[in-house]
Amino acid sequence: MASKPRWQLLSQDEKQLLEGYHDESSDDGRSEATSVRALLRESKPLAKFWMLALGLTLLSSIVMNVILFVQRQRTDLDHLCTRQMTLNWSPILDKPMTYTDIRFNGSLFKSDIYRQPPSPEVDQKWLDLGLNLRPQVIPESQGEKAGLTPNQAKRLDSQGGGYFVEVEAIHHLHCLNVLRQNIWFNADYYRERKIGVWSNTEPVVRLHVGHCINIIRQQLMCTADTGLFGQMWTLTESEHGLSNTNQGRQMSRHIKRETL
Ligand SMILES: *[C@@H]1O[C@H](CO)[C@@H](O)[C@H](O)[C@H]1NC(C)=O
Repeated sequence: MASKPRWQLLSQDEKQLLEGYHDESSDDGRSEATSVRALLRESKPLAKFWMLALGLTLLSSIVMNVILFVQRQRTDLDHLCTRQMTLNWSPILDKPMTYTDIRFNGSLFKSDIYRQPPSPEVDQKWLDLGLNLRPQVIPESQGEKAGLTPNQAKRLDSQGGGYFVEVEAIHHLHCLNVLRQNIWFNADYYRERKIGVWSNTEPVVRLHVGHCINIIRQQLMCTADTGLFGQMWTLTESEHGLSNTNQGRQMSRHIKRETL
């Protein structure tokens, strides 16, 4: 059924009103001019181009701002995280810093350079992590906010003054290296050559190792990683056939980390 124009169903007054409105607006086409589409249709090509250009500029500006905002938030969070985990001020906190995701390698069987049998090459790789960095100096005026006390070692005033400092993270790596040099299957190498931590007497080595165990324990507990890691089933042969063993499960933890 062809629908009648809507105004025919209206009262006479309304009909006249609408007719009047229709006549007036259709004459100069102003009713259509209110829609953007009509505006575009009626515009000259050059005007269309500028409208499009303006629209695209606005859109890309909004997109860029959102991206910058998200990046900024991310950077600030990374900064905040480090600041939160460090009790005192450090000059490193004043540098830009970002975290990246790292996949841990917990391979049980494959050995990287840091865990290979002792050799000058292995020792050098550990030193290259920053362990042979010499102490740095910070101005005396920054000592207090860095958590240093006035009785700590200072450079001679004639040489410029300031506190001698090292970075904790490097200290922790140094301690891990000390443990590595003392693990029973590596200790002979260092003891015989009197190198590394073994350039000292055995009582001093014992104190040094004890200190390092405790430093690493505290560091691991204070920066506890709340991430979870799963287990994997491993099958081993026994007299009862195939079964799971504690040994297998223990091993799988390491393997799982590698294959994550
Ligand atoms: C883990 O490290 C070992 C030794 O460097 C390497 O052979 C292995 O491919 C690494 N595994 C993964 C998953 O990256």
